[in-house]
Amino acid sequence: MREAGLEVSRDDAGNLFGRRGEARVWSGSHLDSVPNGGRFDGVLGVVAAIEAAERLPEAPLATVVFRAEENGMIGSQALRERPEAFVELHCEQGPVLERLGAALGVVSAIVGQTRGTVVFDGRADHAGTAPMEGREDALVAAARFVLHVRACAVGEARATVGQVEVEPGTVNVVPARVAVSVDARAPTAAELDALVESIGFQPSWRIEPAAMSGAPLAAVEASLPEAPRLVSGAGHDAHVLAAAGVPTAMIFVRSLNGGASHSPRELSSPEDVAAGVDALTTVLSRLV
Ligand code: GLV
Ligand code: MN
Ligand code: MN
Repeated sequence: MREAGLEVSRDDAGNLFGRRGEARVWSGSHLDSVPNGGRFDGVLGVVAAIEAAERLPEAPLATVVFRAEENGMIGSQALRERPEAFVELHCEQGPVLERLGAALGVVSAIVGQTRGTVVFDGRADHAGTAPMEGREDALVAAARFVLHVRACAVGEARATVGQVEVEPGTVNVVPARVAVSVDARAPTAAELDALVESIGFQPSWRIEPAAMSGAPLAAVEASLPEAPRLVSGAGHDAHVLAAAGVPTAMIFVRSLNGGASHSPRELSSPEDVAAGVDALTTVLSRLV
């Protein structure tokens, strides 16, 4: 950031900024990842923002690295100040652009998302002596629930159990208690309500679907008139800013390998990344 002529600071929430002048236009993403994640999710948008800032040496703007996006967008939700416009470049993390043969895409909206935990209580018993009849195996109940969650996600909805904690978690004890995570997403609030209802869980966290809007969206659309429009099924810091009323836009860079993401197979080509950085630079030059 310093090499790009930006003044570096950090806020109380751990978000990192590189500012130049009266920076009302921000661009950036996150540097945290999921376990065994890829090299592009988040990082690409940070590096692209710094590169764009370096290419616009007179432009008053800020690059931002939000803290802990993967844990539920912690840093962007804790912002004390917000920009007048925000643009995030991100790899698509899905197969749409690759299938369409397009290097870049324009995000029109981001799906709503909920997360929660469901606990199954059973009874610990000896794995060798307790008859199969009469066992209260919490993991068997949780296994049925996992299949139920999957069956509830119809149409554009998505529902995932990605975390299972088993107690006591020992080979020779009937599981007494199991906690499973639920991640449920849908493009509209009504569909998200219906999904949560049909799964039957209490979300501990929810973010409503959000549309991209205003001058940032207009600038991205003007810069990429031929690019496909996509709804993002992944969450982003851009989602938090849009939900807070900040005019926000996103540029997607094609993901290769069938759109693999949250996986080491995540890949975007140097050519597509270069096209993305060019587009971001043009967009930011129109906004500042
Ligand atoms: C972030 O990558 C999310 O969509 O969960
Ligand atoms: Mn990301
Ligand atoms: Mn991610």
